[in-house]
Amino acid sequence: MKPHIQFKIDRDLILSIIVGVIGSLVALSMFFLSGYMVTQSALGAPLFALMVLIASVKLFGFIRAIARYIERLLSHRATFTMLRNVRVQFFKHLIPVVPDVYRKFNSSDLIARMIGRVEALQNIYLRVYYPPVVIGVTAIISTIVMIYFSYVHAIIICISMIATLVVIPWLSAKRARILKRQVNKVQGDFLNQFYDYKEGYEELDRFGRTEFYKKQVLHQLDDYEAAQAKEQRFLSLYEYSLNIVSMIALFFTLYLGVVQVQNQELDVVYLTSIVLMMLTLFEQAIPMSNVAYFKADTDEAFHDIDEVIAHPMKQGVEAMHLEVLPTEPLYKVRDLNFKYWNQSSYVLQDIQLSIDKGEHVAIIGPSGSGKSSLLQLMLGLYQSDKGEILLNHQDITNIVDEEKYSQINALLQTQQLFDGTVRENLFTDKDDVELRNVLANLGLDHIDLDRYITISGNTLSGGEIQRLGIARLLLRDVPIWIMDEPTTALDIYHTDSVMDIIHTKAQTLIVATHDLRLLPYFDKIVVMSEGEIVESGSYQSLITERGYLYQMVEMNVS
Ligand SMILES: Nc1ncnc2c1ncn2[C@@H]1O[C@H](COP(=O)(O)OP(=O)(O)OP(=O)(O)O)[C@@H](O)[C@H]1O
Ligand SMILES: [Mg+2]
Repeated sequence: MKPHIQFKIDRDLILSIIVGVIGSLVALSMFFLSGYMVTQSALGAPLFALMVLIASVKLFGFIRAIARYIERLLSHRATFTMLRNVRVQFFKHLIPVVPDVYRKFNSSDLIARMIGRVEALQNIYLRVYYPPVVIGVTAIISTIVMIYFSYVHAIIICISMIATLVVIPWLSAKRARILKRQVNKVQGDFLNQFYDYKEGYEELDRFGRTEFYKKQVLHQLDDYEAAQAKEQRFLSLYEYSLNIVSMIALFFTLYLGVVQVQNQELDVVYLTSIVLMMLTLFEQAIPMSNVAYFKADTDEAFHDIDEVIAHPMKQGVEAMHLEVLPTEPLYKVRDLNFKYWNQSSYVLQDIQLSIDKGEHVAIIGPSGSGKSSLLQLMLGLYQSDKGEILLNHQDITNIVDEEKYSQINALLQTQQLFDGTVRENLFTDKDDVELRNVLANLGLDHIDLDRYITISGNTLSGGEIQRLGIARLLLRDVPIWIMDEPTTALDIYHTDSVMDIIHTKAQTLIVATHDLRLLPYFDKIVVMSEGEIVESGSYQSLITERGYLYQMVEMNVS
C-alpha cells in the first residue's frame, strides 16, 4: 500500500463535540424559554413568574457562553494537535522520497504542497466534520423532545435537517470537488508561470520574449480569476439553497402551528417558542453552508500531500561489507534496466559492468546516453526496475547511507553551494593549513577561506565552483571516487593538474567525461550509447579494435 497521511480522532475533538452539542441545546432551550416568556407576558402572567423565567433565560445565556468558550478551546487544540501530527508524518514520509521528489515537483510546487496544502487541513475538524455532527446530534435531540409538544413540528425539523445536513451537501459535493480542483490547478499554473517569468526575466529580455511571457502570465491570471468567480457563484447557490430550505421549514412551522392551535391540538403558549427554537436551529446550521466546499478542499489537500510521498525509496539498513574478496570485483552491475518514474522509455538497458578494486574507469558517450543516470544508480540514489548493483557483494540500496558515503566520494554534475564562508562550504573540521594546501593544489590559492559565498554561487566562476566541489572530496580519505564530468568548467591546464591529483588520491575511480584527452590515463573505458554499453576495454585495445571509441577519437582529431 502506498504511504499516506493518517489522521485520527482524539479526545479533545470528542469532548469539543459533546460540549458543542450541549451549547447548541442550551441555545435552543434559551430561545424556547424566551418564546414561552413572551407569550406568557402577553397573556398577563404574574410578575414573579416572569421574573423566574427571565432569570432562567439569563442563566442559559451564561451557560451557553461558557460552553462556547470551552468548545472553541478544545476544538482549536484538537486542530493544532492534528496539524502537528500531519506535519511530523509528512516530514517522516518525505525523507524516503528524496531525491526522487525533486525531479517530480518543481520547488515552488513542492513548497506550496508542504505549506499551503498542509495548512488547508486546519479546516478539517472545524469546518468539515464538526458542523454536521454537532448540528445532527442537536437536531436528533430536538426532534425527540419536539414529539412531546407537536409531532408535526418534529417531522418538519427532521425533514429540513436531513435536507440541510445530508441531501444538499451530498448533491453539491461532486461539483465542489471539480471546482476546487480547477481553482487549485489554475492557481498552481499561474504561480508557476509567474515565478518563471520573474526568475527568468533577464534571459527573456535578451531574447525579446518578455511580452510573450507577460501575456501568458496575465492570461493565467484571468483564468484564475474566472475559476474563482465560478467557485464563488457555486458557494452562493449552495448557501441560497440552504436558506430556501430554512424559509420553507419556517413557513410550515408557522402555518401548521396556527392550524394546530385552531384545531386545539397545540397550546398557543408554545407556538412562539417553537418558531424561535426553529430559527435558532437554522442559525446553528449556518456553518453547514461551507461544508461541501471545505470537504472538497481538504480532500484535495490530502491527495496533493499523498502524491508527494507516494513513491518511497528503499532505505538501506545494512552495515557495509568492507572486506573485498580478492577474486571478486568491487562493483558489479548485473542486467540493469532503469527508467525515471515519469518516463515511458528506459534510459538504461541491460547494463553489465564490473569494476575491480583499484581500477580507474572512464565512462564516455554522447549527451543523453545515460552516463549520469548510471553513476547515480551506482551511488544508490535510485532503484532499478530490473537487475542489481552490487558493491562488495552487497546490494547498494541495502546499505545505510552513512556507511556508504564513508567509503564513496561523489561529485555530481552540479555542485550545491551554501550561504557562508568558503571554509564552511568545504564541509570539514580539518585545520586551515590543510584546507589552504588543498585549495592551492587546485589552483584556488587566491580564494580566502573567510570569503563569503552564496547559495546561488554567482560570486564565483564556474571553474572555481567545480574545483571547490573537488576540494570537498580531497579533504576526505575515502577509497571509492565517483565523478560526473569533473572538469567541464576547467581550462586545459587546470584539467590536467586536477585530474592528476584525482588519479593519485582515488583508489578506485569512476569518471563520466566528454574529454577524450583524459582517456589514456584510465585502465578501462566504457562507451555508452542510447542507454546501453556498446563497448568496453582498455584504451589501447578499443583503439586497435577500431570501434566506437576509435571513431570518436578520429572525429575529434579531424
Ligand atoms: N530526472 C530525470 N527524469 C527523467 N528523465 C531524465 C532525468 N534525468 C535524465 N533523464 C533522461 O535520461 C536520459 C539519460 O540522461 P543522463 O543524464 O544519464 O545522460 P548523460 O549521458 O549523463 O548526458 P550528458 O552527457 O548530457 O550529461 C536522457 O534522455 C535524459 O533526458
Ligand atoms: Mg550527465
